[in-house]
Amino acid sequence: MRHMIDPLDFSKEEIGSLLTLAGSICEDPTAYQNVAAHKKLATLFYEPSTRTRLSFEAAMLNLGGHCLGFPSENVSSAAKGESVADTIRVVSCYADIVAMRHPKEGAPLRAARYSRVPVINAGDGGHQHPTQTLTDLLTIQRRKGRLDHLTIGLCGDLKFGRTVHSLIKTMARYEGIRFVLISPEELRVPEYIIKDVLEAGGIPYTEVRSLENAMPELDILYMTRVQKERFFNEEDYVRLKNSYILTAEKMKAAKPDMAVLHPLPRVNEIALDVDDDPRAAYFEQVQNGVYVRMALIMTLLGLPDPKAAKEGN
Ligand code: NCD
Repeated sequence: MRHMIDPLDFSKEEIGSLLTLAGSICEDPTAYQNVAAHKKLATLFYEPSTRTRLSFEAAMLNLGGHCLGFPSENVSSAAKGESVADTIRVVSCYADIVAMRHPKEGAPLRAARYSRVPVINAGDGGHQHPTQTLTDLLTIQRRKGRLDHLTIGLCGDLKFGRTVHSLIKTMARYEGIRFVLISPEELRVPEYIIKDVLEAGGIPYTEVRSLENAMPELDILYMTRVQKERFFNEEDYVRLKNSYILTAEKMKAAKPDMAVLHPLPRVNEIALDVDDDPRAAYFEQVQNGVYVRMALIMTLLGLPDPKAAKEGN
């Protein structure tokens, strides 16, 4: 049985196959509408979410399956003091697959150890968010036609932003990737990512403060929200929250085919006047999130691709 807890739980080739499956679902979604009939997905969300939970549920419903679960810690037995280990043992009796979001780093990994069904990490604290990364990869591939030889700028809260950590880890496996890490000093990428991923892999990167100066060289600009809920004091958040605001004016310095990604929710780091720019890819990213989650559910449940079966005949 397989889980997806860390983005590197899948090899580069396996991620390639997932993206191919997601692409084929996107071309012909109706071919997949009964693939997971009678299967159940449980979404266990101990932290707020709009997109991730709804897109997991939409993905399962699109595959003809069913969903159950809870949207917040307050309405689950966690509020009574139940451990993650006990909750997952119980939920394993109700569902065929689980997506879990938790404020504690490592909680989904712990759940996987006690689970009888596949567990997907839907975000654990400031750590990882592998399905957002799959979404980002599909968006990059569809926009740029490739996942290699790209200069990727990541901007904003690179310290607490789990989507940033997962994306760097995953993209570092492709050829010719260069990172430009744009953040205030206080919100730099954690040391373990710099050392264990970038330096250990000999991946070129620069750490800079100015978005404007970095703009002209970027193929991808990944904007992020300052993660208010992970700050220890309000003062620091208030001081740092407006560090970067992407505007239509700043976009003038970017390449004509740069793509702007954002995992969403946006607060104010992308001005509304960027939304109409054809380089804005963040709402397309949301749609891609449903396709990759459909592909991931199929893969973890070992459900055959009906299109591949037809082509094989
Ligand atoms: C992200 C998350 O939860 O980490 N949102 C998402 O899943 N799309 C990003 C964020 O909350 O800023």
